[in-house]
Amino acid sequence: MTLRDLILKTRSYRRFDGQATIELETLKELVDLARLSASGPNIQPLKYILSADPATNARIFPLTRWAGYLQGWSGPAEGERPAAYVVALGDTELRREFDRDLGIAAQTIMLAATERGLGGCMIGSIDREQLRAVLDVPERYKILLVLALGKPAEKVVLEPVGPDGNIRYYRDQDGVHHVPKRSLEEIILRQF
Ligand SMILES: Cc1cc2nc3c(=O)[nH]c(=O)nc-3n(C[C@H](O)[C@H](O)[C@H](O)COP(=O)(O)O)c2cc1C
Repeated sequence: MTLRDLILKTRSYRRFDGQATIELETLKELVDLARLSASGPNIQPLKYILSADPATNARIFPLTRWAGYLQGWSGPAEGERPAAYVVALGDTELRREFDRDLGIAAQTIMLAATERGLGGCMIGSIDREQLRAVLDVPERYKILLVLALGKPAEKVVLEPVGPDGNIRYYRDQDGVHHVPKRSLEEIILRQF
C-alpha cells in the first residue's frame, strides 16, 4: 500500500465486526509507533491506557459520543462496537499543551491500525469525569482523546464538498457513510 492509499483508507469507522478481537500486543505496537514520532521540544508528554478487554471496553463505550451529525443514530449497537481502545493522556507534570503532539500521535496510531487491517475513530467527545473514575486515571494526567478500534464493518467514501459548502458527513439509504472533503484549490491559499 502506498502512503496515499493508506491515508485514503484511514477513515473514521464507527461500526465494527463485533466478533473480531484485537490483541493487547497489537495496541502496544501502535503506541510504539506514536512513541517514535515527532514531539515538540522532544518532551514526549503523552501517556496511554490500553484496553483490549471486553469487560473494560463495556465500561468505556457508554462514555464516548459518536457521529454528532448523524441524527437519530447514537452510536454502534451491541455487536458492532469497538474491540479495543487507546486512551491518550497528557502528563501535566511534563507539559501543559498537548494538541500538536496529540494530532501526530493519533494519526500515527490510526494509520498503523489501517496497515494491520483494523480501523476506528478518534473520539474527542468523552465523559472525561466518568472515564477518569472508570480507568482510575490520576489527576496529573489530562484525558485527551479516545481512539476506538476494531475491524471496520461499514463503507466510508470521500466526496468533494459541494457548492453549498456543507462539510457534514451523512449516511445514505444503503448505510454508506459519506465524508465531504474540501478541494486542494480551496485549501492552498497561495502558491509561488
Ligand atoms: C480531534 C478529533 C476528535 C473527534 N471526535 C469525534 C467524536 O467525538 N465522535 C465521533 O464520532 N467522531 C469524532 N471524530 C471523527 C471526525 O468526525 C472525522 O474525522 C471526520 O468526520 C472526517 O472523517 P474521516 O476521519 O473519515 O476523514 C473526531 C476526529 C478528530 C480529528
